[in-house]
Amino acid sequence: MNDLAPLLTPEGRALLDEVRGTAPADELAVATRLRRGHPAGLVSAALGQARLRQRAAAKFGAEDAERMFFTPNGVEQSTRASVAAYRAERLRALGVTSVADLCCGIGGDAIALARAGIRVLAVDRDPLTAAAARANADALGLAGLIDVREADVTEVDTAPYDAVFVDPARRGGRGRIFDPEAYSPPLSWAVRAALEAPHAALKVAPGIPHEAVPAEAEAEWISDGGDVKEAVLWFGTAPGAVRATLLPGPRTLLGRGLPDPEVRSVGRYLYEPDGAVIRAHLVAEAAGELDGGLIDPTIAYVTADTLRETPYATAYEITDQLPFGVKKLKALLREREVGILTVKKRGSAVEPEELRRKALPKPQGPHSVTVFLTRVAGAPTMLIGAPARAVTGAGAS
Ligand SMILES: C[S@@+](CC[C@H](N)C(=O)[O-])C[C@H]1O[C@@H](n2cnc3c(N)ncnc32)[C@H](O)[C@@H]1O
Repeated sequence: MNDLAPLLTPEGRALLDEVRGTAPADELAVATRLRRGHPAGLVSAALGQARLRQRAAAKFGAEDAERMFFTPNGVEQSTRASVAAYRAERLRALGVTSVADLCCGIGGDAIALARAGIRVLAVDRDPLTAAAARANADALGLAGLIDVREADVTEVDTAPYDAVFVDPARRGGRGRIFDPEAYSPPLSWAVRAALEAPHAALKVAPGIPHEAVPAEAEAEWISDGGDVKEAVLWFGTAPGAVRATLLPGPRTLLGRGLPDPEVRSVGRYLYEPDGAVIRAHLVAEAAGELDGGLIDPTIAYVTADTLRETPYATAYEITDQLPFGVKKLKALLREREVGILTVKKRGSAVEPEELRRKALPKPQGPHSVTVFLTRVAGAPTMLIGAPARAVTGAGAS
């Protein structure tokens, strides 16, 4: 499909209503029936859109996704609603009332900005994508706040806006692009645009090297439900600051420039820091909250003898520490009557799924165990344990 217009007609909209929620297995039968009364091209466009809406529900929630319009790349590249809403709220709190959303895609960020009460100029050079952004602003009742323009962002005057937001295209023909200069438009262009505006936020890949963060920027890594989603370079906030923000919440850990935590022998608890904390290089700040140390100078696992509640890391109670070895693990799992084995790793080349198959070919009983494959004082090590019981105030140990 290279034109949204037919789907936006009354006939197209009626078809979209009719194919809503069609399961893949039923598509052929539904298409055959609908083709009796409608053009074949429109029927397949409606079914394709229904499929994209189902995929988009994970990012936008079913209620919005069912009303929105997508392209395959647009679904893939759009920001999930929770992250976009968090960023929009930060911009609103900075006093921003208008944003030039440069590279708006199908409008994931523009929608969140408008819902935060911000006026948006949404720009994308791809005609179909821009049409989808326009249709989405209409469908969600936000057309009064979102002005969609089909243009190259490098030709747009951003002077009238309080802030610019840039979410460059990061996927080339050969998968994800890691070199920020290979983004479209390149990061250096986005930084120049950011420096000209009172405020700016640039969305970048979470793997961006810290050295690539410009001195004028604050860098924030964001995770949602424990998965790292993106990094944002903020301009007009706190140059040089680093933060990790965890959604839902938000809970934000601020960098304090702490030195690496001391290395200790493995204590009763092992804490696995959230991915955003690790990417932001704030393991020392998280360890400080836990009164913890590192198990190895090169590994981002924190250990402590006490259990403390923290949003920034998941706690496990460790029962055994063994040198790495499949036979040893197998024997231990048999002895402990383990039926479910979770394998986690940091600093180990072992393939978790393969180890799980070899160490526990079949369940040995009702118990669950987590094994961490890691290094302790440089040596390949298995730490065996289970998620720690939550600290519940009175009576907590
Ligand atoms: C990562 S997507 C944006 C996703 C969007 N923030 C969202 O949440 O839906 C990047 C978009 O940038 C657009 N793009 C890339 N280079 C551009 C340029 N020079 N001018 C305008 N748009 C551009 C692509 O067409 C693509 O739709």
